[in-house]
Amino acid sequence: MSIFTCWRVLPAALFVLSHLLFPQASFAAEKALNILYTGAMRGELEPCGCSPETQSGGLARLSGFISDQKAALGPYILVDSGNTFAPDTAQGRLKAEAQLRSLGMMGYDAVAVHISKAPFDSGFTARLVKEHRVATLPKRGAIKALKGGLKVNISSDARLLKKGMINVLISGKPVGELKAVKGWDVVITSSGEVLEEPVRSGRTTIVSGYPKAEKLGILTLKLDRRGKVAGSANRWVVLKKDAPEDPAVRAVLKEYDLKVAALLKEEELKPVSGGLYLGAQSCVECHEPHVQSWKATKHALAFATLERAGKSKDPECVVCHTVGFGEEGGFLSLKSTPELANVQCESCHGAGREHSVDFGPMRVMGKEICLKCHTHENSPLFDYEKYLEKIKH
Ligand code: HEC
Ligand code: HEC
Ligand code: HEC
Ligand code: HEC
Repeated sequence: MSIFTCWRVLPAALFVLSHLLFPQASFAAEKALNILYTGAMRGELEPCGCSPETQSGGLARLSGFISDQKAALGPYILVDSGNTFAPDTAQGRLKAEAQLRSLGMMGYDAVAVHISKAPFDSGFTARLVKEHRVATLPKRGAIKALKGGLKVNISSDARLLKKGMINVLISGKPVGELKAVKGWDVVITSSGEVLEEPVRSGRTTIVSGYPKAEKLGILTLKLDRRGKVAGSANRWVVLKKDAPEDPAVRAVLKEYDLKVAALLKEEELKPVSGGLYLGAQSCVECHEPHVQSWKATKHALAFATLERAGKSKDPECVVCHTVGFGEEGGFLSLKSTPELANVQCESCHGAGREHSVDFGPMRVMGKEICLKCHTHENSPLFDYEKYLEKIKH
C-alpha cells in the first residue's frame, strides 16, 4: 500500500472506528426529529384527582413538561390529531374554549380540529381558533414546518404526500384501516385506540393519541444522511401529580372552573319540597350509631374535597360526591340543598322518605352500588372487601 492510498483510507478507517467506539457520537452526526402527539382528548382538561396515584395527564402538566424540556427535545413538532372535544353542551363549549386557549399557548404546530366526533357549529370553533391563534390543520391542504433544518409536511389528506419532506398524516380512522396507507412516514390517529407500541406497516409508522391525553406520545424519527427516515422509537410521557404545571395554563383552567360554576343558576335551583331524599340528619333519631360511624368515613367529607379542588359547582364532579344529584329531590347546590352534600346513607341505601315513615325495606346492599361511583377510572384501587371493611357500620 503506497503512502497515498494509506492517507486516503485513514479518514474512513477513523470514521468506522469512531462508530464502533462511540455509537452515540455517530448517532449525533445523523439527525433526529421528535414528534410530540396528542389525540382523542375528548374534552379532558385534567384528571379529576380521584385517585392521585394513578391518574395522569392534564393540560397544565403537559404545558409544564414541554416548556421545561424544550431544549432537550431538540427539533420537534407538536401535533394534536383530533377527536379533541367533548359533546356540544354548555359545559362542552367551555371545555373547548379552555382547550384551544391552552393548545394555542403551547404552540401546537397543528391541531386537527376538523377531526372530531362532536363538532360545534363551525362559527363557534372558528372564532375560538382565531382568538387563540391555534394552528389548525386545514381539511384539504397541509401545514409545512421547518424544524432544525428538517422539512415536515403535515396533512390529513392522504393524497398530499410531498417528496423530499418528512410526511406526517393525521387521521381519525381506526388503525386497521390505516395499514393501507402508502408512502407516509408517520400516521397519527385520534381513533382512541390504545397502541402501547407503534404499528409498522411497510415503511410507515402508525401511532395513536392516548385517550384523554393521559400520556404524551413522543415518536423519535432517526434520519439518515439524506434526511430520510431510517428508524423510529416511541415513548410515553406519564405526567402525574408531582409533575410541574405551567401557571399560565393553570390560570386558564381556573377560569374554566369559574365559568362552569356560573352555569349553575341559583334562582333556577328550587328544591322539591317533600323530596325523596332526606339526608343523614333525618336518620339520627333511629340510627344514631350508624350515623356516628358514617361521620368517621371519608364519604362524610366528600364535598369538602370538591370545594378544595374548586369544583364544588361542577356537575361532572358533584354527581359522585353528593346524594342523588341529577335525580328528582336530589342534591342541587350547597345553597339550596346543603343537607344532601357529601356521600351519605341514601347514596348507598336509596331514598329514605318512605322508610322513615313506615320503616319499609331499604335498598339491598351489594357491590354494584359502590361501583356506580367507584368506577375503574375514578377508583382504580377499589377492592370491595377491603373498602367495605373501612366503611362498615
Ligand atoms: C364516577 C364517580 C366520580 C366522579 C364523576 C368524580 N369522582 Fe372524585 N372520587 C370518586 C371516588 C369513588 C373517590 C374515592 C376513590 C378511592 O379512594 O378509591 C373519589 C375521590 C376524589 C378525590 C380524592 C379525595 C381524597 O380523599 O384524597 C378528589 C380530589 C376527587 N375525587 C375530586 C373529584 C373531582 C374534581 C371531580 C370532577 C372533575 C370528581 N372527583 C369526579 C368518585 C368520583
Ligand atoms: C355516591 C357515590 C359513592 C358510592 C355509592 C360509594 N362511594 Fe365510596 N367514595 C365516594 C367518594 C366521592 C369518595 C371520596 C371521598 C373523599 O375523600 O372526598 C369515596 C371514598 C371511599 C372510601 C375511602 C377510600 C380511602 O382512600 O380511604 C372507601 C373505603 C369507600 N369509599 C368505600 C365504599 C364502598 C364499600 C361502597 C359501597 C358499599 C361505596 N364506597 C359507595 C363515592 C361513593
Ligand atoms: C358507602 C355506602 C353506605 C353508606 C354511605 C351508608 N351505608 Fe349503611 N350499610 C352499607 C352496607 C354495605 C351495609 C351492610 C354491611 C354492614 O353491615 O356494614 C349497611 C348496613 C346498614 C344498616 C343495617 C346494618 C345492621 O345492623 O343490620 C343500617 C341500619 C344502615 N346501614 C344505616 C345507614 C345509615 C343511617 C347511614 C348514614 C348515616 C348509612 N347506613 C350509610 C352501606 C352504606
Ligand atoms: C323513625 C325511625 C327511623 C328513621 C327516621 C329511619 N329508620 Fe331506618 N330503620 C328503622 C327501623 C325500625 C328499622 C328496622 C326495620 C326492620 O328491621 O324491618 C330500620 C332499618 C333500616 C335499615 C336496614 C333495613 C333493611 O331494609 O335492610 C337501613 C339500611 C335503614 N334503616 C336506613 C335508614 C336511613 C338511610 C334513614 C335516613 C334516611 C333511616 N333509616 C331512617 C327506623 C328508622
